[in-house]
Amino acid sequence: MPVPHLRLGVNIDHVATIRNARGGIHPDPVRAAKVAIAAGADGITAHLREDRRHIRDDDIARLKAAIDKPLNFEMAATDEMVGIALQTNPYATCLVPEKRTERTTEGGLDVARQHIVLAPVVTELSRAGIRVSLFIAPERPQIEMAAAIRAPVVEIHVGAWCEALATGNARSAETEWQRIRDGAAFAKTLGLEVHAGHGLDYATAEVIAELPEIVELNIGHFLVGESVFDGLSETVTKMRAAMDRGRAKVRRL
Ligand code: PXP
Repeated sequence: MPVPHLRLGVNIDHVATIRNARGGIHPDPVRAAKVAIAAGADGITAHLREDRRHIRDDDIARLKAAIDKPLNFEMAATDEMVGIALQTNPYATCLVPEKRTERTTEGGLDVARQHIVLAPVVTELSRAGIRVSLFIAPERPQIEMAAAIRAPVVEIHVGAWCEALATGNARSAETEWQRIRDGAAFAKTLGLEVHAGHGLDYATAEVIAELPEIVELNIGHFLVGESVFDGLSETVTKMRAAMDRGRAKVRRL
């Protein structure tokens, strides 16, 4: 079986973070999205948080109108966000947990416990033709419930693995890696499409790319940070190359 293409979704939230630090309109996340696409991004991800700390409502509308690649609308499963998603009609949504006090999305959704709330959201968005992904830890009960409530996609939270590697905790990194690998394989057996994201950089994206079950990576903070040194276009090009190097190893296994 041929190894599927690994898509790169570029999350442009932190371009908006920099813009909002001063107010005004610069740097424009829509311009960043266009640059990322020209450099090889397969899609653009933007998270409209309840507090609008980075992406704002008009960014979502402008992104939808301006980009010619799939828009992945990251959102909490609230009535407000479902309404905006239905109005915007993005290609995809990724449902994430959201806490006001967190600096970034800290953990995955507890689908196993919150399925009563999540199931109707998955159904409503799917009926509108929007692909729904659930951002979860690579744990069997979460994966099983995601499949049970008919989410077509899960995005595996790989932040704990990236963090363990970054802090030199080899044992924890190995444990997290096994969880990711087993979780991705298990999700695939249940018919789920598998994505991954959170905390990825060139090195970790290259390693994750070796898992053939994973067909999309969503990456933001590292790309925007690295753009300070190399520019966004060059950074996306390098990330694409890292992912391709990892993917090429699958064929050699
Ligand atoms: N995927 C999801 C669901 C996320 O919440 C985030 C963070 O906004 C990302 C991917 C990207 O993570 P990072 O910015 O650390 O690359």
